[in-house]
Amino acid sequence: PPTTLVDKFGRQINYLRISVTDRCDLRCVYCMSEDMQFMPRAKLLTLEEIARIAQQYVDMGVTKIRITGGEPLTRRNVMKLFNDLGAMEGLEDLTVTTNGTLLTKYAAELKSAGVTRINVSLDTLQADRFKAITRIGDIQKTLDGIDAALTQGFKSVKINAVIMKNHNDDEILDLIEYVRERDMDISFIEEMPLGDMGEHDRDKSYCSSDLVQKTIEERYPLMATPEKTGGPSRYFRMNESLSRIGFISPHSHNFCDDCNRVRLTAEGRLLLCLGQEHSVDFRAVVRANPTDDTALRKAIIGSLAIKPKGHDFDVTVKPIIMRHMSATGG
Ligand code: GTP
Ligand code: 5AD
Ligand code: SF4
Repeated sequence: PPTTLVDKFGRQINYLRISVTDRCDLRCVYCMSEDMQFMPRAKLLTLEEIARIAQQYVDMGVTKIRITGGEPLTRRNVMKLFNDLGAMEGLEDLTVTTNGTLLTKYAAELKSAGVTRINVSLDTLQADRFKAITRIGDIQKTLDGIDAALTQGFKSVKINAVIMKNHNDDEILDLIEYVRERDMDISFIEEMPLGDMGEHDRDKSYCSSDLVQKTIEERYPLMATPEKTGGPSRYFRMNESLSRIGFISPHSHNFCDDCNRVRLTAEGRLLLCLGQEHSVDFRAVVRANPTDDTALRKAIIGSLAIKPKGHDFDVTVKPIIMRHMSATGG
């Protein structure tokens, strides 16, 4: 059945992103500040409440759900949620975005729960840089996690790389070789200004997708393809490779007109846009109505009226959205 979820700009909502925790076992410089305060665990939606909300969305036409964090695989008993979601009739694409550190442990379980695709954040292939960007990470864990996922036969295991000048913009071609060798896809992402980043200066690190594309094309000509994965990536292909190269360009190629998604935060706030604060408190709705879904369905439909036209990100000024990326999982 077609989605019943249409906003006032005529955009069809068929993609729900769910953050299951704002905590993470890494501290990426573009995502968190050094002294992050996390949500008290008592404020989180329970896994049952998350599944209940997700079920309503699927019933109303959502076909793609992505589980995010923080690092989603650090949430206690999260496999229970994956299993519940994987069993939902009508959900075509169950996906997760992860930093990969726990994939060695969970890849097989994710596959058997019905996860179709996994996106792994990997901005560098150099151990010392990985440590610098993530502040505390060990790259080997993520690389091993990717290898573990690749043995499971997912439809796709994709790399997400945020490219930043003077951090990793000299590794674009190394990342391309890495995905070519493994027949993986990759998305290159323009950094977005969310939350106060302390010493990390986004104005200086901003790197446009066009620059990334130019660097790749010096080695491999890129051919645009109309293929989509339901997310914001614009995809290209190279000769003699199965890999797709994606660009997520919130600054240089705004994609808000095609927005098909909403986000549920770990504490149960439905965010209508990553780059705005418009939201509805779904936790209050589910807790006030523990057995009857009527109010929840009304809240889901009602929320679409306040979905904003798009973000107004500007890397050259202080962030206007003080919420960190880790609160929404991007
Ligand atoms: P696919 O299903 O593989 O297409 O993934 P996806 O791009 O939908 O999700 P992922 O979690 O891998 O996110 C990749 C990047 O896209 C992250 O930096 C997200 O913050 C960003 N992104 C996803 N949706 C939006 C959005 O609606 N607006 C903005 N500005 N960025 C988004
Ligand atoms: N800008 C762009 N992408 C970001 N991510 C985290 N923070 C930012 C940011 N400020 C990416 C992560 C992950 C995805 C969900 O979002 O690298 O791959
Ligand atoms: Fe953790 Fe992902 Fe944020 Fe990095 S980007 S700190 S891996 S939640």
